Amino acid sequence: MATASREQWGSSFGFLAAAVGSAVGLGNMWRFSYLTAEKGGAAFVVLYLLFTALVGLPVLLAELTLGRGAGKSPIEALAHYGGPRWKPLGALFVATGFVILAYYSVIAGWTVRYALEALTVGMPADPGAHFGAISEGLPAFLFHIFFMGVTMLIVAGGVTKGIERVSIVAMPMLFALVIGIALYAATLDGAGAGYRYYLNAEISNALSMDVVVSAAGQAFFSLSLGMGAMLTFASYLPRDSNLPAEAVTVALSDFGVAFLAGLMVFPIIFALGLQNDVSDSTLGALFVALPKAFSSMGGVGRVIGLAFFIALIVGALTSAISLLEVVVSATVDGLGWTRRRAVFVMGGLITGLGAAAAWSLAILDVMDQVANNILLLVGGFSLAIFVGWVMPDPRGEVEPGSPGLGWFGGWRFLLRYVVPVVLAIVLWHSVPSTAVNLWKLVTGEG
Ligand code: TRP
Repeated sequence: MATASREQWGSSFGFLAAAVGSAVGLGNMWRFSYLTAEKGGAAFVVLYLLFTALVGLPVLLAELTLGRGAGKSPIEALAHYGGPRWKPLGALFVATGFVILAYYSVIAGWTVRYALEALTVGMPADPGAHFGAISEGLPAFLFHIFFMGVTMLIVAGGVTKGIERVSIVAMPMLFALVIGIALYAATLDGAGAGYRYYLNAEISNALSMDVVVSAAGQAFFSLSLGMGAMLTFASYLPRDSNLPAEAVTVALSDFGVAFLAGLMVFPIIFALGLQNDVSDSTLGALFVALPKAFSSMGGVGRVIGLAFFIALIVGALTSAISLLEVVVSATVDGLGWTRRRAVFVMGGLITGLGAAAAWSLAILDVMDQVANNILLLVGGFSLAIFVGWVMPDPRGEVEPGSPGLGWFGGWRFLLRYVVPVVLAIVLWHSVPSTAVNLWKLVTGEG
């Protein structure tokens, strides 16, 4: 359709800031930390790094190649190279965006609330009870509406004037905050126990299938892969951009922030003797253990806590933007709506769906599991097959702007064989266990 008038990023840094902004978010700080604690420390980190390099990076480059080549939103981009029978896959991407953004925004709403409280009344005296009170029901819903509202305003502003303008400021700020907090954490007495836990790989810990599944899901979620977010952002790239370099930069930044998040979270928690709080709870870990630590540090804790929650908000916002942009760009291209109309109608529907996640933590948890352990992995599997086997000339599409093509054979091999096999094995294990959890929720046995 209107390819000629399609918006483009204002600068290559603008694209990078937006793509890193999409990748870096609650997944790096909240999800990565609690999974690392729950799944046995450094062994999980090593697996996650392995999945990022061997599975995440090839799929990321596949999405960038599809997006830039077609210059279209996901549904149209798949049809462009594969014909109309690939459109349902694009529709699945859009549906996945709906589900993820709906619950993601509820969690982001919690972080907004914690930051506001750090500013006004300080850290909660009893974080466990506090989290119970604010994480479900009307309070959670109101903050979710607020967060969705801000996300919608930015996306309504458009690619350069909305998304790019916010990302250029937000990303450097997030890096500064995360590095600052990690440096502060290093000065705490007892930080050493946290580092030892985090960095000592006890490889036998990683040998269970459950840990492998979690590491794979986390690599996809953290890189925003498997639902066309990176594809959509790449559709606004000029033809001469260096896609392999962009992919490597995004993957390194994403892993870097997750790694740094561990360097802030674990020393703080171990220095204050709270390690059991983290491994006991799952979803709520960060929102209970860290405020406990912050409140027992007194005045400094309030400042560090505020900085920490601001970093979470900034990361969540730039990620939420990318999720909404997938849905909006597909609606604009597919139904011919204006951007504004797409933002308000689709954003409104997503806000409504989020009510379910705000209503109950159990529902939120199941939405997270269905999205991560199934939808994103099916999406990544299909993308690898599509670019590896179906797309007529991936070499010709990835080549412009990239230095040499010596890596092409390796990339194609990973997409054709390694990624599909690995993801099929992971799905084989994750589908039944997720279905059981879903069943428990529906029958109320949870
Ligand atoms: N990657 C983001 C995070 O780590 C979340 C996210 C944004 C995402 N866009 C996505 C996840 C698309 C999956 C797909 O917080």
